[in-house]
Amino acid sequence: MNRDDFYLLNRNIIYFDNGATTLKPYILGESICDYYNNYSANAHRGDYDISIKVDSMYEGTREIVKKFIGAKTANQIVFTSNTTDSLNKIIFGFFKNYLNKDDEVLITKSEHASNILPWFELADSIKIKIKYIELDKEHKLTLENLKKAITSNTKVISIAHVTNVVGDVRPIKEIIKYAHSKNIMVIIDGAQSVPHMKIDVKDLDMDFLAFSSHKMCGPTGVGILYVKEDLMNQIKPIIVGGGMNSSFEFDGRRQYNNMPHLLEAGTPNIADVIGFGSVLNYLSKIGMSKIEKYERMLRKYAIEKLKNVKDIIIYNENSESSIITFNIKNIFPQDLAIYLNKYNICVRAGNHCAKILKDELGIKNTCRISLYFYNTKEEIDKLVSVLNNSNILNEII
Ligand code: ALA
Repeated sequence: MNRDDFYLLNRNIIYFDNGATTLKPYILGESICDYYNNYSANAHRGDYDISIKVDSMYEGTREIVKKFIGAKTANQIVFTSNTTDSLNKIIFGFFKNYLNKDDEVLITKSEHASNILPWFELADSIKIKIKYIELDKEHKLTLENLKKAITSNTKVISIAHVTNVVGDVRPIKEIIKYAHSKNIMVIIDGAQSVPHMKIDVKDLDMDFLAFSSHKMCGPTGVGILYVKEDLMNQIKPIIVGGGMNSSFEFDGRRQYNNMPHLLEAGTPNIADVIGFGSVLNYLSKIGMSKIEKYERMLRKYAIEKLKNVKDIIIYNENSESSIITFNIKNIFPQDLAIYLNKYNICVRAGNHCAKILKDELGIKNTCRISLYFYNTKEEIDKLVSVLNNSNILNEII
């Protein structure tokens, strides 16, 4: 779909590393250049035309994000620099004050580093306990296993909606409903889900959602933190400075702004936030449901074809997302990625920042393809034919 919208797709590359970051459509560069060339003033500070235009475009993106994820108000949308930043802001700006010694946070071993390391830090500083919910045989999270992990000390569940190696789509609606019935809060890492499916935060009843612009055709350096309305006044900024205060005095008296500006200290990433707005409009025009349906079809096709590749081990055959993780027996994944690069095929190899997942998979490193709406069956056929090359071992050595 929409391949003509991307420069890089006219350059003979097959890009299968969309879980890391996606390609960017022309419209993104145009919108960012328009800001830099035609109205490159600061935001929230000027009383002149081009600055007023900046405010309207920057805050306009907040409205677009609100609509895109179904939030009630734009004030619930905070611009951060990426998913990691969003998670850190919420874990240290809210949970550090909310949690007490021996309270339990539930995560899984397939979480990304940014949903594990902040909890490790918190465990060290305020002595909370981190518990891992058991995954099933396919490394998936089930509601049943989640229920078993909950105790009277469980205060928060922090999980990816779609994990970045196993690629399972978690039943978050049921999880959130159950968690709330036990007074447990839920943080959703949406980095690998929001780019690929229609999300409605109200319907899902999310407390917090974090995701990144660059994994959905947008620029790097822009993340989103969504906060449920009744929690908005309980968050403390972990970065303070200009833009987030309305006054301060020599003796330390100070007045901070309300959300979302409370969490956006300093000059924001104006150009990229504006660019992200144009990309969200672009994705909405294609339709997120259409994107999800297309990717599911493509995944099914890829699995059917890849299954027949000699010596392949697929680690997540029955996952639902567009992430497929595999190895070829006796080939080190990084060597395989370098071999595929000779054929202009981009995949990711390694541990994919999910460094304790090895305990579940029984293997440390894998190759991963992650698809997006501009990938095609023909590209998958090419991958399969290159993997089936009878000379593969010689070419790698
Ligand atoms: N989290 C990103 C990935 O999975 C970087 O590749």
